[in-house]
Amino acid sequence: MAPPAPRGPLSAALLRLLMRRRLATLDHVDAAATGLLARTADALTDADLQLSLFLLYELHYGGIEEVPDSWEWEPKLLAARQSLERAFELALRNAVPHSEPDHDVPSALADLIARAEPPRLGAFIEHDATVDQVREVLACRSISALHEADAHSWTIPRLHGAAKSALVEIQSERYGGGQPGRMHATTFARCLRGAGLDDRYGAYADHVPTAVYTSANVMSLFGLQRRLRGASVGHLAAYESTWSLPVGACANGMRRLGLGDDVIAYFDEHARADAGLEHLATHDLAGALAEEEPDLAADILFGAAACLFIDGRLWSGVLSRFRAGDPALLQPLD
Ligand SMILES: [Fe+2]
Repeated sequence: MAPPAPRGPLSAALLRLLMRRRLATLDHVDAAATGLLARTADALTDADLQLSLFLLYELHYGGIEEVPDSWEWEPKLLAARQSLERAFELALRNAVPHSEPDHDVPSALADLIARAEPPRLGAFIEHDATVDQVREVLACRSISALHEADAHSWTIPRLHGAAKSALVEIQSERYGGGQPGRMHATTFARCLRGAGLDDRYGAYADHVPTAVYTSANVMSLFGLQRRLRGASVGHLAAYESTWSLPVGACANGMRRLGLGDDVIAYFDEHARADAGLEHLATHDLAGALAEEEPDLAADILFGAAACLFIDGRLWSGVLSRFRAGDPALLQPLD
């Protein structure tokens, strides 16, 4: 991706370091990270922390223009990432309820999802949203949807047996089942173009609210650490419940607004695929993992609760802005 604009002293120092390719300036990043961690009131909403963490994670995905590929495993950058991750994970564990399931994990996941208050953005898109508001939602979604499935793929080699097999089956569907044109990231890119938006990764990096980065970072935090494999599985189970942004309602909204076939098709195809994926993720994946590794049951529920909380906050925040007559994005779309 192209380097975005910084959102505070830490991301500014980090971007300067990455662009100049001089690790000697890492001291500035360390100092900025220490300063930020000392003063931040909420690691989940801190724009500077979340963007910095996102940039460090991006080195493990497609990378950032002009940053050498070898810096993916630069120890000093990994150390900076770890400091931010500690604060992030602690804030997450404090923010969401977590407990041992008192019955089987698939039922506990269903209860967790049913008890959570869903954001009403799907209904708003279905009945009330304008074309401009839909385009803003698509721009917000672009950060994670153009990388769809990648973060949860880190978890594959950390699983065994039935759980691993189920995760591969889920990811295969999300990656198009051998047909590149059916990859969810590809159909989302078509959806963006159909809505007159830019489908390059990170095109709206400077537009989206910080909650978009928090949502993406949760997946990378869980995916990139073996000890958090249970949370990654739980996150995927909640993510595939389509709880936060019901795709069927969104498809109806796109039709109401007369948006093109490529826009509607993305949501229609998800509505078809997601019902099967939800069952697979909840039962065949999360249920199997809890049976194989009972000690991970609490973390499976933690990951699901984190997804519901963070994505719920993202889309509720977008809806609140729309209801107040405000844009969801920090700057207007072209
Ligand atoms: Fe998908």
